[in-house]
Amino acid sequence: MDFERMWRDLEPLGRSAASGGYFRQPFGAAERECMAWYVEECVRRGLSLEHDGNGNAIAWWRPEGVTGKGVVTGSHLDSVLDGGAFDGPLGVVSGLAAYDVLRDRGLTPSRPIGFGVFVEEEGSRFGLACLGSRLATGAITPAAARELRDREGVALLDAMASTGLEPALGPSRLLDEIGTFVELHVEQGRDLVLRDRPIGVASAIWPHGRYRFEVEGEANHAGTTRMEDRRDPMLTYAMTALAANKQARLGEGPRATFGRLQVEPNGTNAVPSKVTAWLDARCATEAELDELIATITRLGEDRAGRDGTSLSMTPESVSPAVDFDAALAGRLSESLDAAPIIPTQAGHDAGILSATGIPTAMLFVRNPTGVSHSPAEFAETADCIAGVTALADVLEELAG
Ligand code: GLV
Ligand code: MN
Ligand code: MN
Repeated sequence: MDFERMWRDLEPLGRSAASGGYFRQPFGAAERECMAWYVEECVRRGLSLEHDGNGNAIAWWRPEGVTGKGVVTGSHLDSVLDGGAFDGPLGVVSGLAAYDVLRDRGLTPSRPIGFGVFVEEEGSRFGLACLGSRLATGAITPAAARELRDREGVALLDAMASTGLEPALGPSRLLDEIGTFVELHVEQGRDLVLRDRPIGVASAIWPHGRYRFEVEGEANHAGTTRMEDRRDPMLTYAMTALAANKQARLGEGPRATFGRLQVEPNGTNAVPSKVTAWLDARCATEAELDELIATITRLGEDRAGRDGTSLSMTPESVSPAVDFDAALAGRLSESLDAAPIIPTQAGHDAGILSATGIPTAMLFVRNPTGVSHSPAEFAETADCIAGVTALADVLEELAG
């Protein structure tokens, strides 16, 4: 099995020398290098590569005479800004390593097995999580995707074309071939640590979303403008961020995070004219999430009324609750020595595929600190190897 060699080859691509974190934004140079690496590894194994016009790909192991829908495993190669090495790539590398294990076991699959990559899972460039799988399943229309712009104003189609791709956005025939989907992923919490188990199986994904708050005020001099004469959008934003934190803490586990901020004109000696802030919120149920967003928005609007500013909220990326196929999860757990079945608060392409009715499962690999979306994200090599073995077992169980 080639896991460690593949991991070493992939490791330097897109890594910042300053932070040790990864900048693998979709259709950027580093992410394209990762895709080229994936293609090379698939060709090396004699897999048959298929791309769609959204930037997604599946490499098939289809022995002579084996036809019909297949079992596909896969994940993503893009990262958040300054992200970790494992979120996404662990699933892709583990899939290819599981192929090696199955070949070594002498398996001839009775169903095709595919090894896939979905593009822009993190939504770090175009703001919409799971963009590739959403386009492939029709969860976002090509027309809506054409409107997406990155922070520099570059349109999705232009970003794709600049890498030499010929975009053809929309529902993907790649999905017609997927009978079952299994995504392996680093765990992004400490559930498996607390249970002292290296591998888990996913039960569900919490509903979650990203919401853009725009607060407009009045630019003015930081020295000469009396405090009582100001219309300061930064204050409205600050109070809204505090309110979000407080409201989330009042509930049973909701998460609310303002992680991205844009200030205009962003000068030290001027009251800003506008603050745009992005809220990421996640709850156990859709009703709770709706209520949390409504409450934070109302509290922000109340504050705007007192600050003489105006506040508007626009949902940018909303993902409903996902319950993975319970029978499939149970079967995989059983075949993996009663691996624990646990929910996650993180979004995944597996959730998008599951929502279209494809029987879908996820495997999690223990993460000793639980840290994710950070350069500190980690998994022990022994646990990664246990993940590869578990994935090979699962693929054999489903396609053997
Ligand atoms: C993806 O990792 C997300 O949950 O934001
Ligand atoms: Mn992620
Ligand atoms: Mn991920």
